[in-house]
Amino acid sequence: MKFTVAIDGPAAAGKGTISRLIAARFGFAHLDTGLLYRAVGAKVAEGAEAIEAAQSLSESDLARDDLRSLEAGQAASKVAAIPEVRRALLEFQRRFARAEGGAVLDGRDIGTVICPEADVKLFVTASAEVRAHRRWLEVGGDEAQVLAEVRERDERDMNRADAPLRPAEDAVIIDTSDLSIDEAADRACAEVLRHRG
Ligand code: CDP
Ligand code: CDP
Repeated sequence: MKFTVAIDGPAAAGKGTISRLIAARFGFAHLDTGLLYRAVGAKVAEGAEAIEAAQSLSESDLARDDLRSLEAGQAASKVAAIPEVRRALLEFQRRFARAEGGAVLDGRDIGTVICPEADVKLFVTASAEVRAHRRWLEVGGDEAQVLAEVRERDERDMNRADAPLRPAEDAVIIDTSDLSIDEAADRACAEVLRHRG
């Protein structure tokens, strides 16, 4: 059985958390597509050329333990604006989405570009303040600086020419600003059940 769930939205909206819960509940494979861009960004920070890094990405590149940092997020959103980088990562994501047994992918352009035919499309969002607070709880430091970086990354992701961050026309919007993780996951699972039965 093939079944694809596309989850998009801005930084720290709760995409990954919801994706992991859906994957566990329905037995789907999960791909955090942000990790691909973070890995390319990390290689570029070490001197690699962006398109080459995207074309030669390996499992071990994705397993680095420095990919969750704010710096890696910024580096990711810079390389993510390069069309050839996006193109190099496209087929891997599409193949993953067709996995037998179902797949959930989270990112920025899953419902719009990677899987426009996805069975379920969710756009998970929250206010910038709430998202920055959540990310600050994870990484610490200066909360105002975390908010500034979240806003900067949102701007870059929404305003790039290739695959900008925006909800697909047929996406269901879930604003998690005032939702607990369980409440957000319940809404997301209800959408999956509605389409999958
Ligand atoms: O994947 P994305 O960057 O969209 O967000 P995430 O990593 O799933 O969530 C960011 C943080 O917010 C995590 O620490 C979650 O536990 C937390 N979170 C929350 O407090 N309330 C929610 N409704 C969803 C996520
Ligand atoms: O977890 P968080 O939402 O903070 O970031 P992420 O999902 O790991 O994505 C990091 C960056 O990669 C984003 O800010 C985007 O610029 C880029 N990205 C993208 O362009 N397309 C995707 N499908 C996933 C991530």
